[in-house]
Amino acid sequence: MPAACLEGLPLLEPSPSGWVDVALSDLDALLVDHAYCELKAASTAVSLVVRFADRPALVTDMTALAREEMKHFDRVHALVRRRGRTLGRIHGDRYVKKLRERSTSSLLDALILGAFIEARSCERFRLLARAPLPEELAGFYRELASAEARHHELFLDHAAAEVGSAASGSRRREMAEIEARIVRELPLEPRIH
Ligand SMILES: [Fe+2]
Ligand SMILES: [Fe+2]
Repeated sequence: MPAACLEGLPLLEPSPSGWVDVALSDLDALLVDHAYCELKAASTAVSLVVRFADRPALVTDMTALAREEMKHFDRVHALVRRRGRTLGRIHGDRYVKKLRERSTSSLLDALILGAFIEARSCERFRLLARAPLPEELAGFYRELASAEARHHELFLDHAAAEVGSAASGSRRREMAEIEARIVRELPLEPRIH
């Protein structure tokens, strides 16, 4: 029941049915993409510290987030290594690129964007946690799904602190429509996004 995986998230639609099967069809590719997602999440948090260094609460929270995402990266990289693989070249992320095309460079949009990336990761980790995977991996995805749920809330809390909850809620609803369309249109691949 994939829609249950949306619980508590600002997403309008579940991932296309069939995504899990495609994801499981090449677990090595999925894990490499996942590792890079964690690295990019850390790097985005660092870039928010640099860009908005005059906001102490944001700097504190993004510093902690960057550290946590690097720990996630380290763990996924260890899984990749255990499977005898290397990360190889980083691939562009079409999902994030398309979301960025529809965003401004404001802090509000950066935070809303961050919230949606975390929320979609959360939904997909929930899907993977229920998939027929070895228990070690399913448990790993259960744990990461709750981390991403927490992260999406962190971004939305900062968005509300930035412009108030009414304005941030209205931008969140706009972005939810955009995000749902992007997810519907992107081809299914063994990638997190
Ligand atoms: Fe993460
Ligand atoms: Fe995250």
